[in-house]
Amino acid sequence: MTTATGPDFATPPGFLLGASTSAHQVEGNNLASDWWALENRPDSPVAERSGDAADSYHRWPQDMDLLAELGFNAYRFSIEWARIEPERGQVSRAAVAHYREMVRGALSRGLTPVVTLHHFTSPRWFSELGGWASAEAVDLFAGYTGTACEVLAEGVRHVATVNEPNMLALLYTLLRGRTGADGKAAGSGSGSGSGSGSGESAAGAVADVRLAAPDPQVTDILLRAHRAASAVLKAADPACQVGWTVANQVYQALPGAESRAAAHAWPREDLFLAAARDDDWVGVQAYTRNLVGADGPLPVPQDAVRTQTGWEFYPQALEQAVRHTAQVVGGCVPILVTENGIATDDDRQRVDYTRSALAGLAAAMRDGVDVRGYLHWSALDNYEWGSYRPRFGLIGVDFDTFARTPRESARWLGRLARAGRIPGRHEGLAGATGAPAAP
Ligand code: BGC
Repeated sequence: MTTATGPDFATPPGFLLGASTSAHQVEGNNLASDWWALENRPDSPVAERSGDAADSYHRWPQDMDLLAELGFNAYRFSIEWARIEPERGQVSRAAVAHYREMVRGALSRGLTPVVTLHHFTSPRWFSELGGWASAEAVDLFAGYTGTACEVLAEGVRHVATVNEPNMLALLYTLLRGRTGADGKAAGSGSGSGSGSGSGESAAGAVADVRLAAPDPQVTDILLRAHRAASAVLKAADPACQVGWTVANQVYQALPGAESRAAAHAWPREDLFLAAARDDDWVGVQAYTRNLVGADGPLPVPQDAVRTQTGWEFYPQALEQAVRHTAQVVGGCVPILVTENGIATDDDRQRVDYTRSALAGLAAAMRDGVDVRGYLHWSALDNYEWGSYRPRFGLIGVDFDTFARTPRESARWLGRLARAGRIPGRHEGLAGATGAPAAP
């Protein structure tokens, strides 16, 4: 299916080409968040604490300078609810001012800000109420969104309400110690990531993550919270472009397992994509694929090349994810690739992966899939939910000195952004096998 053979592909006018981060993974010292509490428990299930992370809370001007100098025109970052509302009903004016300054900083450098309101972490007080399982969650998130509008009013057009609601709801299943579908006990589920566990930190939960389904009650609450937040955002600014970002699992059915794969995909991904049919855009986040056989999900093939997170090296995932997303949302909702990347110490492998992923994206766009941007994960090396080992950054970070060093991959991708072109051909990689799961 993936044999893009044309020359470079000229991206359409206004195409966003940049990189992504999330607050907890780069800011450091996110003291009032539930993740900070989890990391610092004596019996913490995670291997490493976030600590200072990349200290981007203080060093964001340098991060944005680098991205702009490299040639990028967009930066996706999240704002931290736990900083804005560290105690219930108490807004930190300093935190609001901080994020307003970040938006102004992005715009003044020519970086279009794509702002996520919730990227996995919540205030500790919110989690203590039951978090996304609480009856108050929808109203509380809508209230926070109202406050966030002050930040967005600085000139943000693209807002993601919730990052990977499908993964968030899955995390609740894991934390509650059940897998949903099969009734087997799940692990402690400290990791997030794109469906296959987050490397070392969640290694023990990998098998469970494959089987587990998002908690249905939390799913329902997240859907309602997304709609409530969208209404708040639109009331504040009718021009605001609202979406959410979904973890695309790229389920591939083995012959004969098509209906099993479709049934598997619905509560884990497609339901969340279908909910975006009324949105202004939908975020695609794809890293690898997941095979499904007649008896359900299958492990990564033994001969597969794996990345630092244990995922199969499979850049074709992006093309399949955008085609599948377009199919599920009905083709009328623009797509933003809000995450795609690879955890590796080998930067040439990062370039190979990204070149191939972009060629697949170009093939889908040539066929008419409406893609408005590509935001690589990640701008910086960061805290990968329990471990600093996986290196996702275009820009390397020394976590002792906080020195930033752009990698060759950053320069290469930045040049593409400046030229307004993405590769139109796969080089040195076999074409994709298998087909995306039918909706
Ligand atoms: C998440 C990121 C994470 C990345 C790599 C996505 O699921 O949104 O927070 O770091 O995948 O695991």
